[in-house]
Amino acid sequence: MNMMNPDISLSSEIPETEPERQYYYIEKAKTYVAKLSEELGRRPTFCVTTFGCQMNARDSEKLVGILERIGYTEEAAEEKADFVIYNTCTVRENANMRVYGRLGQLNRVKKKNPHMMIGLCGCMMQEPKVVEKLRKSYRFVDLIFGTHNIYKFAELIVTCFESKRMVIDIWKDTDRIVEDLPSERKFSFKSGVNIMFGCNNFCSYCIVPYVRGRERSRDPRAIIREIERLVADGVVEVMLLGQNVNSYGKTLEEPMTFAELLQEIEKIEGLKRIRFMTSHPKDLSDELIEVMKNSKKICRHLHLPMQSGSTEILKKMNRRYTKEQYLELVTKIREAMPDISLTTDIIVGFPGETEEDFLETLDVVQKVRYDSAFTFIYSKRTGTPAATMENQIPQDVIKDRFDRLLEEVQNISAEVCSVHTGKIMTALVESINDHDASLVTGRLNNNLLVHFPGDETLIGKLVDVKLDECKGFYYIGTQV
Ligand code: 5AD
Ligand code: SF4
Repeated sequence: MNMMNPDISLSSEIPETEPERQYYYIEKAKTYVAKLSEELGRRPTFCVTTFGCQMNARDSEKLVGILERIGYTEEAAEEKADFVIYNTCTVRENANMRVYGRLGQLNRVKKKNPHMMIGLCGCMMQEPKVVEKLRKSYRFVDLIFGTHNIYKFAELIVTCFESKRMVIDIWKDTDRIVEDLPSERKFSFKSGVNIMFGCNNFCSYCIVPYVRGRERSRDPRAIIREIERLVADGVVEVMLLGQNVNSYGKTLEEPMTFAELLQEIEKIEGLKRIRFMTSHPKDLSDELIEVMKNSKKICRHLHLPMQSGSTEILKKMNRRYTKEQYLELVTKIREAMPDISLTTDIIVGFPGETEEDFLETLDVVQKVRYDSAFTFIYSKRTGTPAATMENQIPQDVIKDRFDRLLEEVQNISAEVCSVHTGKIMTALVESINDHDASLVTGRLNNNLLVHFPGDETLIGKLVDVKLDECKGFYYIGTQV
């Protein structure tokens, strides 16, 4: 049976195996959506809002794939949609606050529009306290599910249509990966591809291992098959996704390294660019550096989260590398690929961070000279070891360090990015420019953006562009 277009009959028994079971529920959901459509006198609409990382963005494409398949159409304005879904993030506290804030607004809209359905999923829902709070104080929410059972979305929608009560389905963990479900890409020419799920690192500040579960890798054949299909459908660039891609393959029956997987993906004809994230410095192998160096398709960009430059803090963070090891790794990468673009994540104000520790972080920033860095204020996540550590840092001290770090990072990144001025580089055109419709926006191999005159016929094409002027972290250019 062709899983993307299966032949399912509602009169037969409900299949027990996946993904057949979900295709059955897709057919069933269609009947409910058709009924709703008749009542409304138009096709019902949905609006999915994604918080957080690229993993969530990819998950949302799977949600959209199901929604469109069962008969909903997309509506950009949330307050007009018949089905509103928040795919949430919980990596920092402020992500949670935003969700509660927006739910408050949605409640007012739903009072005027009682048939509106509200669904919540993603990492935040894996926290029992959150679900408890929603159950008590946010009764107007219709559906709550987590990260492990997102593949059951069609089945959950059917349960929702058949029940008047709040539907909650959260799993603690899972070892299963369901393949071959529909998804609807946001971009026709590029796509994220999950290669693994979960994380086993337990960095002491991070909630991800608790909400995304244990690390498990997808079968390489399933990954290759998915990319081949994407390429046949017009995709030229893939972003391989995992919390720690460098430990890909360890849990497979026939273990395989990430570098080996990359070499297999490189062979796929028609695929032009390969990106991946995120790399953990402790697992980045010489083999990977070698494969990147010799590759024609892997982009010259590495996102290598440093988190802190202080060996002492890194130890408390359970990162399992020292400042010196991190710097040595950067040197090795740069020796192999002098033109590589390096980006990072940094946390300021981890418990016990002294001014000296912070200066070590600044020192790494000055030594590595990142193309760009995401800087975060430490956020206490209940349940993580760091949350109960002594010496939580006062907010004013954190704020001062954060501002100093940001300034340094931005000054360096403006200098580093400008070195390409005058060069001709290839850009994959992604969109019409947000501010000026006579320009298009393209992404260079090194992940920088360039804006240049062009129209929508260029979208999805790889074009050579002269980088005329650097504007800090992007370029203005001309097609050559
Ligand atoms: N507080 C602040 N930043 C965090 N990150 C993860 N957990 C926390 C936290 N508790 C950051 C890390 C990670 C990025 C995705 O989010 O820098 O690399
Ligand atoms: Fe969190 Fe560390 Fe896993 Fe990244 S590697 S998801 S920071 S625990």
